[in-house]
Amino acid sequence: MSVTVRVPAKVNVQLAVGAARPDGFHDLANVFLAVGLYDEVTVTPADELTVTCSGPDAAQVPLDASNLAARAAIALADRHGIAPHVHIHIAKDIPVAGGMAGGSADGAAALLACDALWSTGATRDELLAICAELGSDVPFSLVGGAALGIGRGEQLTTIDVGGTFHWVFAVADGGLSTPAVYGEFDRLTADTDVPAPAASPALLDALRRGDTHALADALSNDLQPAALSLRPSLADTLAAGTGAGALATLVSGSGPTTAFLVADAESARKVADALLTSGTCRTARVAVSPAPGATVL
Ligand code: C5P
Repeated sequence: MSVTVRVPAKVNVQLAVGAARPDGFHDLANVFLAVGLYDEVTVTPADELTVTCSGPDAAQVPLDASNLAARAAIALADRHGIAPHVHIHIAKDIPVAGGMAGGSADGAAALLACDALWSTGATRDELLAICAELGSDVPFSLVGGAALGIGRGEQLTTIDVGGTFHWVFAVADGGLSTPAVYGEFDRLTADTDVPAPAASPALLDALRRGDTHALADALSNDLQPAALSLRPSLADTLAAGTGAGALATLVSGSGPTTAFLVADAESARKVADALLTSGTCRTARVAVSPAPGATVL
């Protein structure tokens, strides 16, 4: 018997970053929006814990115990006195190391799949607590839709979304390390008084109303200067999307994936084509949001 869970990618439509905390993390006001690019994670009983991955970026995915899907299986098994003997297969379509929470998505999906396979009876709150231990973005991958994350980003409040948003995502060559981007944020803000992060009322209102143009005006990412500082060529990708008619551009999370909010599906195809021919990215993907969270298929 196997269980398969489908799980979405995310974009941060607002990422407000506060000063570094004593534990090294940063307080955030992190507005997550799930987008319809999905990984599928299948767990099957086996003699030991193993991980395999398929898909265009599969070679970049670690298959050892550092993989969040493996860590999720171990965390759940430990809590319930179960041996984590499963084979985990990740059918990967979310860009790897891109700021779209692909690794976090696989962690949430493996957790939900193992929970179903083992019939642990864990509550939703227990699953969310395990997600938060695995990483700051993992709880949102379980929940999906849209949510404001405070603290490290793991304390979620759901946001209703009143419409469909159309996006293009440009996938860069090579990844960017999340800790390195936060470190660069610290360096760039060292001489400034970093304000406490707060969600933008205009942005939350734009999501609730499903108003694309208002959302375009309100997008923001405090990690963007740090990502551009570490990877200056991302500015060329952003300019190529703007030139092709994107309403707004944004580095996705800690990057290097860049996000382009567009008016409709037709504009999405046009912007994706322009990005591909611009030579400023490895590939371009079209997607809509919101998308549901981790779901057993
Ligand atoms: O929680 P997660 O393991 O995804 O975080 C990866 C890294 O990103 C952390 O080790 C930290 O350097 C940085 N981070 C941070 N503040 C946050 C979330 C992540 O500094 N709120």
